[in-house]
Amino acid sequence: MFESKVIENVFSESDFKKLHEYLKKKEYKPFDLDNDYLYYTEIPSHITYKIISKVNEVTGLNLKNIVTFARLNTGVIDARVRIHADNIVFGRQPRYACVYYFEDNPESGTALLSSPTHGRERLDMKMSVFNEIGDFKVDVFNPEIANSLFFYKATLYHSRWPCISRGTDAKDGRIIIVSFLE
Ligand SMILES: [Fe+2]
Repeated sequence: MFESKVIENVFSESDFKKLHEYLKKKEYKPFDLDNDYLYYTEIPSHITYKIISKVNEVTGLNLKNIVTFARLNTGVIDARVRIHADNIVFGRQPRYACVYYFEDNPESGTALLSSPTHGRERLDMKMSVFNEIGDFKVDVFNPEIANSLFFYKATLYHSRWPCISRGTDAKDGRIIIVSFLE
């Protein structure tokens, strides 16, 4: 089982552009995760299907969707440090979590982190979120590359990295697709 892996060129160039334009125009709704608000919007089911197919092709597994959606973060919303594991999603335990990027922004991306206090993964059914970097250190950094997908073992601690946000809305903020697979 891969700990983490990148898949490049997930969609064709024209499908990628269409999807990005579509998501920039959408409205993102708040989702309350213990007063930690995430902003999401639904995506077409064929997009979810394509993402899961790609991961299954690379892993040789037969993973199924728990939930897949687009997420917006800007300098104004969901801007906090949020180191966490995706060990539990809607009461289920995903094997992998995936992040799909829309922009080339290689100094920014997703990091897998570990700490002497908390270790590198959360194996039980409890959720933990750290809003301070504390003693966490980056083990793996994956840069944002447009039309690429980064997937990792869902139990591993991770975060948007570095925790610097950009923009104020869907036009200039950070839109990603996240997918949790079991
Ligand atoms: Fe996550």
